[in-house]
Amino acid sequence: MAHTHRILAFDTANEVIALGLGELDPATRTVTCVESLRIPAHRASNTMLLPAIDDLLARRGIGRSSIDAVACGRGPGSFTGVRICIATAKGIASALGAPLIGVSTLDAVAWQLQKGGARGEALVVADAMRKEVYPVRYRLSDEGAVRLEPDRVVKAVEEAAALPVNDALLIAGDALTKYVDLFAHAGALAPEDAWTPEGAGLLACVQAAWRAGDVDPFDARRHDPALVLPVYTRLSDAEENERTRLASHDARDLRTGVQHAGSATIDHAGGIEYRPLDAAHAEDVGAMEAAVMGSDAWSVSSVLDDLPRKDRTWWAAFDGEALVGYAGGWIVDGQLQILKVACDPAYRRLGIARTLLAQLASDARDLGATECTLEVRVSNAGAQGLYRALHLRDVGTRPRYYSDGEDALIMTGPLPLASHDVAGMELIVDQAAREDESSPLALAGLARPLVIAIESSCDETAAALIDGNGTILADTVASQIDFHSRFGGVVPEIASRKHIEAICGVTQVCFETAAAHLGIDQLDWGDVDAVACTYAPGLVGALVVGVAFAKAAAWAADVPFIRVNHLEGHLYANKIAAPDIEPPMVVSLVSGGHTMLVHVRDWGDYRVLGTTIDDAVGEAFDKVSKALGLGYPGGPIISKLAATGNPKAVRFPRAMMHSGDLRFSLSGLKTAVITYIHQQQEAGVELNLPDIAASFQAAVIDVQVAKAERALDQTGAREFCLGGGVAANPALRAAYEAVCAKRGVRLTMPPASACTDNAAMIALVAIDRYHAGKFAGLDCDACAHTDLEEPY
Ligand code: KG4
Ligand code: ZN
Repeated sequence: MAHTHRILAFDTANEVIALGLGELDPATRTVTCVESLRIPAHRASNTMLLPAIDDLLARRGIGRSSIDAVACGRGPGSFTGVRICIATAKGIASALGAPLIGVSTLDAVAWQLQKGGARGEALVVADAMRKEVYPVRYRLSDEGAVRLEPDRVVKAVEEAAALPVNDALLIAGDALTKYVDLFAHAGALAPEDAWTPEGAGLLACVQAAWRAGDVDPFDARRHDPALVLPVYTRLSDAEENERTRLASHDARDLRTGVQHAGSATIDHAGGIEYRPLDAAHAEDVGAMEAAVMGSDAWSVSSVLDDLPRKDRTWWAAFDGEALVGYAGGWIVDGQLQILKVACDPAYRRLGIARTLLAQLASDARDLGATECTLEVRVSNAGAQGLYRALHLRDVGTRPRYYSDGEDALIMTGPLPLASHDVAGMELIVDQAAREDESSPLALAGLARPLVIAIESSCDETAAALIDGNGTILADTVASQIDFHSRFGGVVPEIASRKHIEAICGVTQVCFETAAAHLGIDQLDWGDVDAVACTYAPGLVGALVVGVAFAKAAAWAADVPFIRVNHLEGHLYANKIAAPDIEPPMVVSLVSGGHTMLVHVRDWGDYRVLGTTIDDAVGEAFDKVSKALGLGYPGGPIISKLAATGNPKAVRFPRAMMHSGDLRFSLSGLKTAVITYIHQQQEAGVELNLPDIAASFQAAVIDVQVAKAERALDQTGAREFCLGGGVAANPALRAAYEAVCAKRGVRLTMPPASACTDNAAMIALVAIDRYHAGKFAGLDCDACAHTDLEEPY
């Protein structure tokens, strides 16, 4: 008997888990639903989804490896719910090497209605929070459910008011839970259990798309799990607010972390900065338009008119303060229509147009587009070449489109997103130095276990592979810093979005790097003995992506899952710098989120000697930098300025220096600096930035060193270690060197790459956890806070 082909489908965009198992018949392109569930999961999709999947397969006696394809809901719905669904699906599909097919959550609801016998017009309205809804209309017939419009987001009141009374309209969707009174007049309400999807609806969507030729559940290359992303239909709040501010001609706010040097997406090759176009640069755009676009040039007023529109995205490229390129797009009907791409002729061939297009595409994707389209002069072979390289194809011409009578070529294609895309982040790949370069290890000779670890607690998506000897085989980090810097700090929603975009690419590069290190062709999920992940502490929405992905991959690969406390990872990072290091030791952990002294009595046995009662040290650097009108992150900027300043110029307070305990307080110092700045400004005195920076930094260091000495006294430890981003500060390092030399204490100062967030440190903890047999369950969740003294 032929092997049965199976597809697993699920969705957690709402407060329920929709779960289905289908059988695939390639001859007739039929998906037969063999199981369809809807499980209530209020705020519990991450803990309940994987156990529910596991339970379903166990009940049916089906092995994980006999799943041939995976389908998942892409929303729209709860952003976190959708990301849990997609991260889980990416984990399962990646580990199985199976295709991943994204399905609209709303389509699944519509198909569910159709399967239930409903015919005629239907409206599915999903809750979009903030008094908004995602409405989509469908026509239901014996043939199926046909979507009549693309995804959009609109105020619930406005949508309801615009609906004519129509008894024949069937209304469903989870927005009815909140807004049933608003929508009741407009038609007939579907029964409540049809407001959210279940497995059968998802499977029906797959079958319809399969028959239409839009998907092929047997084509893993076409349906690379990296390519499936959530449907948001809007930018993050931070970006929306930024657009509003940038579009206003009032330049007053423009200096607050938006316009400043070092606070933008940096093209590392060319030193070009990319940022959303603002009204203050409309004149420059107008000038370049006039210079390069001839009679088709946009005027300054048409640019100013376009900027504030919610369905537009405009980006600009700068060399220093000079505008050297810009691009604009209009998101309409699920398409990004490229309105404009221009580049200063002196800056051609630097990849500026390509980067600008990537920025437009990224926004457009968040705003609900899946395709892009544009017009280009038939004579402009250069531009056409770029667009073809981005997989756009010719679909026709518009005769005499340009004012000089030239024809336009119309080109259309998918929004550019390569499977190796790490969402435009800078990818840092580190391969452990091999001791004997001449003899590759090969997989057979590898010390087991082989463990992959994933880290996503803040603004870095990272993966590392470690062998049983504790050797790091590969260490990859995709840093999002460029996407946060212009907001003056990490924006949680953007962090979560970037993690889900990058997670497949980062893990794939990690496997490839390790394979190269081992001298073998390929290394994959099937080769690992365990999967580990940071589960706490950190930004929950960010952590949840890594946790859902990692435990799903562990489940699919049928290996144990290990959860790691991020802070314990920072302690273990010292092994990267000094492999022979052994407790007891005192570790000072100083980052943007943490300030603590930890007594490591043994690995796994920690006592937190003291923490900050308010701001973290890195946070203080960042806030002072912001107050001085400088960029983000503030640490490197302040420390560079401080190098030329006088640390005794201003006497800032040394809070809690003599408090007799090991607690810290930094908010008073920050306030003192800000007060000082205001006083100087009011007195009309020009600020001496280097002196302020050096004086602030000296106040921080004095307290840090005093408390470190007290901790060494208290514990009698002979080892002192550093961790966290602030440990990169040269003056702090020099102060510790002096103090430790004086006391005869060994000092370990990891390189910056081991101090800041990475997955190698998580992998080092994971190997110990593996040997101790400490594994986590499929219901493991992400947590914002944990107790380091109880690391597992
Ligand atoms: O550990 P990290 O990369 O991320 C977390 O916060 O978890 O630390 C980032 C923090 C930022 O606040 C940054 O301003 C600070 O480390 N930092 C520094 C320096 N380099 C980075 N602070 C002082 N001096 C530096 N050279
Ligand atoms: Zn950290």
